[in-house]
Amino acid sequence: MSKKVMRVAVTGGAGQIAYSLLFRIASGELFGPEQPVALHILEIPQVEHALAGVAMELFDCAFPTLADVVYGTDAKTIFKDIDLALLVGASPRSKGMQRKDLLAQNAKVFIDQGRALNEVATKDTQVLVVGNPCNTNCWTTMKCAPNLDPRNFHALTRLDQNRGAYQLAHKAGVSVEDVQRMLIWGNHSATQVPDFLNAQINKNPVKEVIKDHHWLENEFFEILQQRGAAIIEARGKSSAASAANAILDAVKALREPTPSGEWYSDCVLSNGNPYGIEEDLIFSFPCESSGDGKWEFVHGLKMDAFLEEKLSITQQELIEEREYVKKLIKE
Ligand code: NAD
Ligand code: LMR
Repeated sequence: MSKKVMRVAVTGGAGQIAYSLLFRIASGELFGPEQPVALHILEIPQVEHALAGVAMELFDCAFPTLADVVYGTDAKTIFKDIDLALLVGASPRSKGMQRKDLLAQNAKVFIDQGRALNEVATKDTQVLVVGNPCNTNCWTTMKCAPNLDPRNFHALTRLDQNRGAYQLAHKAGVSVEDVQRMLIWGNHSATQVPDFLNAQINKNPVKEVIKDHHWLENEFFEILQQRGAAIIEARGKSSAASAANAILDAVKALREPTPSGEWYSDCVLSNGNPYGIEEDLIFSFPCESSGDGKWEFVHGLKMDAFLEEKLSITQQELIEEREYVKKLIKE
C-alpha cells in the first residue's frame, strides 16, 4: 500500500460505540483495502487501562490496512496530524433522560476538544460529532476551533435516517433498498423531523405508496423521535452497533459522490441554507457531496404546513440549546 496513511481520531475509545467502530475502520471497510489507516484514540485517564486492552485487540486482528495505533489521554497529542476526528466520547443518557439533559455535563468535553483541535489540527480536518446532544456539541466544538473550516463540522443524524428507511420499508413491505430520499431535518432529538413528504419508495412519493397517512404523521414520527429511548429501555444501554454503522455511512456519504437526484441527512452549519432556517445552527439538512469531503445543500424540496410547523419546533429547540451553551463557553 503506497497511499498516504489516513489518520482518524476516535474519542471515547474504551466505550461501547468505539468497540464496534474502531474495528470496522481498521479492517478497511471505511476507506477500502488499498488505504492504510492510523487510529488516534482518545480516552479519559480513568479508563486508560481498558483502552490499552482495546489497542491489544486491534493489533491482534492483524488487519493489513491498520498502519498505526496511537492512543492516550492528551487531546492535543491525539489530534495532531489527523485527517478526520470522530468525536464519540461523552456520557450517554440513561432511562428517562432527554439527550439535552446531557448538555451541562458534556459541553465541557467539546469545549476542551474544540480548543485542542484549534491548536493542533489543520484547517481541512473533518469533524463528526456523535456524543450527545450531538448538534449542539458540534456547534460548541466549531466555535472553539475557529482555525478549522466551519463547513467541515458535522453531527450525526444518519442513524435516524437509517431508522426511517427501515420503518418505511417495513410498513410498505419492501426492501430498504427500495426507499430513496429518506431525510431527517433538524436536531438529533425528540423534535427531529423525519420527512415523508419528500421521501420515495421505488421512486414514487411515500404518501402514494403508504396510504395510511395517520401512521406517517403519528406513529412514524413517534417511533423515530423515541427510537434511542426505546433502545435504552430495552438494552439498558444506548445504541452502539447501529450508531457505529451510521458513523461509517456518514463518512462514506462525504467521500463518495452522491448519486444524482439523491440526498443524505447531515447536520451542518445552517448559514446560507435555502429553507429559511436560522443561521448559526448545526441543523440536519438534505445534503449532497461531490465525493471529496465537500458538500452542498440540496435545494427545492417540497414543504407543507405540517413540515413547516415541525421544522420550527426543532429549530426553536436548537436555538435554546445554543443559547444555553454560549454561557458555558464564556465561563
Ligand atoms: P460509553 O459510555 O459506552 O462510552 C463513552 C466513552 O467516552 C467512555 O469510555 C468515556 O470514558 C469516554 N469519554 C468521556 N469523556 C471523554 C473525553 N473527554 N475524552 C475522551 N473520551 C471520553 O458511551 P457510548 O454508548 O459509546 O456513547 C457515546 C456518546 O454517543 C453518548 O453521548 C451517546 O449518547 C452518543 N450517541 C450518539 C448517537 C447519535 O446518533 N448521534 C448514537 C448513539 C450514541
Ligand atoms: C440514539 O439515537 O440511539 C442515541 O442518540 C442514543 C440516545 O441517547 O438515544
